[in-house]
Amino acid sequence: MNIRNSTSNIGNPTPFNAPIGVFDSGIGGLTVVAELRRALPDERILYVGDTARVPYGGKSAGTVTRYSREISDLLVTEGAKLIVVACNTASALAVPELASSYNVPMIGVLEPGAVAAVKATRSGKIGVIGTRATIGSGAYSRAIYSLNPGVSVTATACPLLVPLIEEGLFDDEITDLVLSRYLEPMLKSGIDTLVLGCTHYPLLKNAILKICGDRVTLVDSAENCALAVKAILARSEHAVVEPHLDILLTDSSEGFLRIAEKSLDLKIDSLAIRSVGN
Ligand code: DGL
Repeated sequence: MNIRNSTSNIGNPTPFNAPIGVFDSGIGGLTVVAELRRALPDERILYVGDTARVPYGGKSAGTVTRYSREISDLLVTEGAKLIVVACNTASALAVPELASSYNVPMIGVLEPGAVAAVKATRSGKIGVIGTRATIGSGAYSRAIYSLNPGVSVTATACPLLVPLIEEGLFDDEITDLVLSRYLEPMLKSGIDTLVLGCTHYPLLKNAILKICGDRVTLVDSAENCALAVKAILARSEHAVVEPHLDILLTDSSEGFLRIAEKSLDLKIDSLAIRSVGN
């Protein structure tokens, strides 16, 4: 596939073929795209991966909110009928401020993940892993406690995981070692449910399962987020005419296509570079 630099509109969206806009800092949000494809096979999707500025997970709320606003503006300019913030960090730090700024619905991944975790736990001990910014915000613990004040939440920041995933090291002893370091203390504390609170982490599901075994139910918010999007669209008037996946990256990324197509089995119709912000 040719990667071009792009400044023009993608596929001339009209109200009848408007895409669902999705964004993340990098490849992680593609795990949400894969679930959207399953739930809504005929929809057009426009995905922005902010590969120029990944990772978001160690950045401040102000910076992540500015990046999220720039990308949401781009998605709206491209005719998106709904914005899916397929990034837990941006969902925790930016969605509360940005959601009311657009005249299209904006949905993050955090609430759907919290709902799924509360449903899944039997022991009432829930673990959450995510970026430093997501865990530091306390947003998951708040969302989970507001649904069920009786559960306990153990949250651990895992800052080394996103770089390993962006490098495609899904099945690698270094990744296994890093995961053990993060997960063993949580397992010792007795969790029976683990929220993958970063959209990159489902790409490590097999490696995480090797460590957690069948003691723990893994919750990834992607599927629940896709179902929430489906419910919103079912109430709207937009007609769906052609399935399509267009991707804009803010900088070139070597592994992006390989991971999208091989690990997530996504068919990409176009891939272009578009700069965003300064
Ligand atoms: N995939 C993102 C998340 O869900 C962002 C990871 C990062 O850029 O640090 O938090």
